[in-house]
Amino acid sequence: MPVIMFSRTPNTKRPRHGAFSLSRRLLRGLALCLVLFSLAAQAADGPGRNAIASAHPAATAAGHEILAAGGNAFDAAVAVSAALAVVEPYSSGIGGGGFWLIHRAEDGFTTMIDGRERAPLAAHRDMYLDAEGEVIPRASVDGPLSAGIPGEPAALAHLAGTYGRLPLAESLVPAIRLAEEGFAVDAHYRRMAGFRLEALRASEDATRLFLRGANVPEEGTVIRQLELAATLRALAERGHDGFYKGEVAEKLVNGVRAGGGIWSLQDLADYEIVERDPVHGEYRGITVTAAAPPSSGGMVLVEALNILEGYDLQQMDAATRTHVIVEAMRRAYRDRAEYLGDPDYVDMPLSRLTHPQYAAGLRAGIRLDRATPSSLLPGVVDTTPKGEDTTHFSIIDGDGNRVAATLSINYPFGAAWVVPGTGVLLNDEMDDFSAKPGVPNVYGLVGAEANAIEPGKRMLSSMTPTFLDDGERIAVVGTPGGSRIISMVLLAALEFSEGRDAKAMVERRRFHHQFLPDAIQFEPLAFDDALQLELQSRGHELQPLDSSYGNMHVVIWDLEKRRVEAASDGRGVGKAEVR
Ligand code: GLY
Repeated sequence: MPVIMFSRTPNTKRPRHGAFSLSRRLLRGLALCLVLFSLAAQAADGPGRNAIASAHPAATAAGHEILAAGGNAFDAAVAVSAALAVVEPYSSGIGGGGFWLIHRAEDGFTTMIDGRERAPLAAHRDMYLDAEGEVIPRASVDGPLSAGIPGEPAALAHLAGTYGRLPLAESLVPAIRLAEEGFAVDAHYRRMAGFRLEALRASEDATRLFLRGANVPEEGTVIRQLELAATLRALAERGHDGFYKGEVAEKLVNGVRAGGGIWSLQDLADYEIVERDPVHGEYRGITVTAAAPPSSGGMVLVEALNILEGYDLQQMDAATRTHVIVEAMRRAYRDRAEYLGDPDYVDMPLSRLTHPQYAAGLRAGIRLDRATPSSLLPGVVDTTPKGEDTTHFSIIDGDGNRVAATLSINYPFGAAWVVPGTGVLLNDEMDDFSAKPGVPNVYGLVGAEANAIEPGKRMLSSMTPTFLDDGERIAVVGTPGGSRIISMVLLAALEFSEGRDAKAMVERRRFHHQFLPDAIQFEPLAFDDALQLELQSRGHELQPLDSSYGNMHVVIWDLEKRRVEAASDGRGVGKAEVR
């Protein structure tokens, strides 16, 4: 099984849960100290109970089933990922990729499994441009030409083989069963299928599997995916090679090429996951551990928090607080567009971007009474982000192992194209590259040369699986939501820093600024009239959204109270469960 491992964090576990807690309590008396030390020691061993929050009840159940069978959080992560691939075909899948941020309790080892898709070897910088050098509409969004080489199967094989207690085949059982028995269409499925109806109709297999009479299926319609079950079985039986070599690989390459794509057997045979050191930061006593490039999530999150560290947000009035958070988002998203890409292809000033002194310089340019127009910072084109895609789950097992995983096939239903005979719905993650530096993608995100297309390169992502640890509580956090992912995790981190629980973190009303377009988007009820007027008077353009966004899933282990809690976003249909 090809795997690259480098720059892993050897031990990010700090001793404070044992020794530091003990010394604090010595001040309160020896007897109390002894009792509490024993509690802290138990807590440090693990919360004792398993907590999972994911975007679908069947996926949460799949994870708990594997934990009950003797698996750990990493086995459960395999089960949840694979189940989501079946029951949320509009969000993620084995035709896609993602980032699994993991922490192993026994030695404090933390790493990020980078299962991001790669550009095919035949890809080239201008592949989505016409003869005039203009971006060909939809070419990087619909159909096989928009698909990167999937990383999720490799990541699942690696998670099970390297970190799990159970064989991969056992952890894939719930997903195979779901694919064979089917799941019922709900209102969210109908909305996603309606959004991608025309594109789905262009694929014979997608039409047969995901539509009925070439239309959006009625609620309650059962979606069975027998070819996908067979492909999952090949993965279960042969591990990594069951997907990337042999019969499945040949069907994938033949099908993609027949549909106008450019995959080769070599692309699949060459695919490797990479273990990467996550991005680390500190915010008001909280250690932040989040996704590293090729995700921009950790960098933007830490840069924005570093800027905000210089303000006492809790003492500010609502308008000033919102204003400085927006200004921090603006600057961090600007740096995303300018600098970030695949670390195996581009040099990035990551340590500068995440350094508190760099943030202090940016903070100095923020006026409390006036918005900074994005046009005064280096930048380019303007458009409106849209889309609702991707998925996230959070797990802490009874031993304290944890997983924050954000997975994607990019746009809803990805490329909307299923490879005949495999049940594999292709991603359209190639749209996350800058098809033409400076021209925005479907989320309105612009990028520079660092994220230009190159053969074998990973496209820049916004996925932000994150751990927050304030010494007393550990949170596992993440959400889907395209370009808004990072700002949602930022707002959740601020909630956590003010002592709020998992439910408050997922329920918080959201707002977003991503440098371009130069406007604050906000959910219904996020800003009252007075706040809107005050922000406008400081020069902010407001873009009220007519619906909510995001689908956050949070698990918190409270070491002081020796309790785990889990919450799934009420905006989605997910389920959080502690057993
Ligand atoms: N495809 C969404 C992301 O990776 O950010």
